[in-house]
Amino acid sequence: MPTEAAPLRQLDPHTVDELTHTARKILTHFGSSAARPELLRRVAESATRLGEAIRHHCRPVDTDDGLFVLRGLPVDDDGNGPTPAGWATAGDSAAEWDVILLLLATAMGHPIAWEGQQEGRFVHNIVPAPGHEEEQTGASSTVLLSPHTEDAFHPGRAHLLLLACMRNHDAVATTAASVRKVRLDADDVALLSRPVLPILPDDAYAEARSFAGEPPRVSVLWQTESGPTLRYDPAYTPLDRAPADYRAAYDRLTAELERVSVAVVLEPGDVLVVDNDQVVHGRVPFEPRYDGTDRWLKRASVRVPGRRSRPLSEADEHGYGQAALVAHP
Ligand SMILES: [Fe+2]
Repeated sequence: MPTEAAPLRQLDPHTVDELTHTARKILTHFGSSAARPELLRRVAESATRLGEAIRHHCRPVDTDDGLFVLRGLPVDDDGNGPTPAGWATAGDSAAEWDVILLLLATAMGHPIAWEGQQEGRFVHNIVPAPGHEEEQTGASSTVLLSPHTEDAFHPGRAHLLLLACMRNHDAVATTAASVRKVRLDADDVALLSRPVLPILPDDAYAEARSFAGEPPRVSVLWQTESGPTLRYDPAYTPLDRAPADYRAAYDRLTAELERVSVAVVLEPGDVLVVDNDQVVHGRVPFEPRYDGTDRWLKRASVRVPGRRSRPLSEADEHGYGQAALVAHP
């Protein structure tokens, strides 16, 4: 897989100052935690006052890569303390970055959270956790995290995914594959646009996994005004239930996504922004250190108001009883 330079949006020093200063002010006012609802309201207010340069850097993805990297924000490696041993103990570690990420997310749309994931927090910590090495979740390490649409099981999933790098000493690559670079024949596209199989909730959603309702069948690939769009999570798709021709088309999509996949090595301070309608993301395997210096990312999810990229049939899905919490301005 080629290690490619993702389209880069370099932040100038003035913009960096504006963002960090605003985040610091908000955090000082609310104490050390970015998890409070009043803080979200303040973030929304402050985001409307951010300058033109930040708005320009937060514009939608504008290449077929379906992603970009914001670079230039500082990370205080010593000040952030050790990499948490799991999301549950991360608490308010590097809370200033939680606010920076929320400001960026708010400049792009509405941040969302999930009641059933990481206690409803709007910014998640992604760190390897002992005992979860081989899962298909962000807590894993020694296995390939298969390319997937974020929260593919849910009709209210994010349009954009923001991954901010706090620490990555071993240069562990995030993978990304854009459906806009995939070549499939029209028959495969037609087959994969039919709702044949469900996508089940992933292991990060304990409650949703025990939901009693019938899993809705969903389209994997469809056309929108701006191009092909996908909803894909093979690790949670019961492919063995599909007819052979469907499975073959799905396998060809998987092979194409592999062919166009790129490895993005994030540096501390980088914020990778992925269009979750166009790009599936994953992570290469790595050996966890478990010594406080492990890879550490922060994640925010965003809905873009007014974006019409989803099939109408998704509106009837139950979402396995999970509700997205939306931070409205
Ligand atoms: Fe993910």
